[in-house]
Amino acid sequence: MSKTFTLDGREIPFETGQTIMDAALAAAVYIPHLCHNPEFAPHGSCRVCVVDIGGRQVSACTAAASEGLVVDSSSEAIQATRRAILQMLFVEGNHVCPACEKSGACQLQAVAYYTGMLAPHFTHFFPRRPVDASHPDVIIDFNRCILCELCVRASRDHDGKRVFAISGRGLESHLVIDSPSGLLGDSSFAAGDKAAHVCPTGAILPKGRGYETPIGERLYDREPISIVGDVRAHE
Ligand code: FES
Repeated sequence: MSKTFTLDGREIPFETGQTIMDAALAAAVYIPHLCHNPEFAPHGSCRVCVVDIGGRQVSACTAAASEGLVVDSSSEAIQATRRAILQMLFVEGNHVCPACEKSGACQLQAVAYYTGMLAPHFTHFFPRRPVDASHPDVIIDFNRCILCELCVRASRDHDGKRVFAISGRGLESHLVIDSPSGLLGDSSFAAGDKAAHVCPTGAILPKGRGYETPIGERLYDREPISIVGDVRAHE
């Protein structure tokens, strides 16, 4: 008999070693997430996947599933926590959704809609961050980086290149590029790298394209991310 835990009243089967996120996604139950990508080791940095277990809030992508757990992923309290986390992510960077080429196909935006986040609430930091257009095929807009480290993990674990890293601590944390000049165009990065296709926001985008899909037909225009799934599944 398979082991199960309860997620929002529904029995979810799991195997030893799976996280709550692993088991939920395998059962086609959506838990909001940004830094999680099943192709890479869990990272637990964005905290958007927060769930409640017995009054304790944990990240579903790093918490091990275990027999008999009762997990709350949908109460108003949990959604409010997620909204607050998302609001912080929005004000820490410069996310100008109406002008962003990723709008309508951005996981950060889609998760914000899913949780009912309608305004940033906190005071914007308006950080001064550069745009790196030095690469012939790909542009990096650091204003949209949420430090999920998916490009770091993809470049290191899949591409075998280590093009990206996080430098600094706390508020000073930022994405850096391993090249003599610090510019992407001076690195070994290529448009076909896995790292070019894992960004959940519009921080890493191909050049020569933009606003290709009309409003109304973009990935998350018709159905929410809980049904459509991650951007990567549609690339
Ligand atoms: Fe779990 Fe980011 S998806 S912490």
